Amino acid sequence: MNSTKKYAFAEISNHTSKDDCWLIIHGKVFNVTSFLEDHPGGEDVLLQASANGDATDSFEDVGHSSTATSMMDEFLIGTVEGPKPNQTATGDSLPAKKVQQRKPEASSSNFMDILLPLLILAVAFAAWYYLTFINVNA
Ligand code: HEM
Repeated sequence: MNSTKKYAFAEISNHTSKDDCWLIIHGKVFNVTSFLEDHPGGEDVLLQASANGDATDSFEDVGHSSTATSMMDEFLIGTVEGPKPNQTATGDSLPAKKVQQRKPEASSSNFMDILLPLLILAVAFAAWYYLTFINVNA
């Protein structure tokens, strides 16, 4: 296992089959071929994630346990090198431009997440106020 080896996206994308399956997770490259059959989530999801290019989101979406995370070292073969292609490669070699991987930090917390409970609270308060002070005196 050589975890310092660097692989280009184009090369990694050649390893998406059942007999040779690599995954990109958090900028690292994992050869999960031997793990396909043993993966508790099934081999299809791994093959799918491999074919999709970057498996980071799918891996995180599942909410893998720390056991799963610690298992990953076993399959680590290196890191990803170079810019992430936005589209299917056309064969043109792109200028070696440094792409800043900017991930939107956390989430810009959904506005409705705050507004909705407040709205419900306001309606409840209005109902209580009406029933307690207005309706009784009517
Ligand atoms: C090297 C990479 C991976 C390793 C070592 C790994 C390992 C594991 C392990 C140990 C589990 C059992 C549950 C747990 O402990 O969290 C699991 C479940 C699962 N994994 Fe992965 N996994 C990897 C990548 C992925 C990827 C890329 C996907 C993406 C689709 C995926 C999808 C799932 C699903 C759907 C389950 C089943 C969850 C359930 O039914 O509870 N895994 N994986």
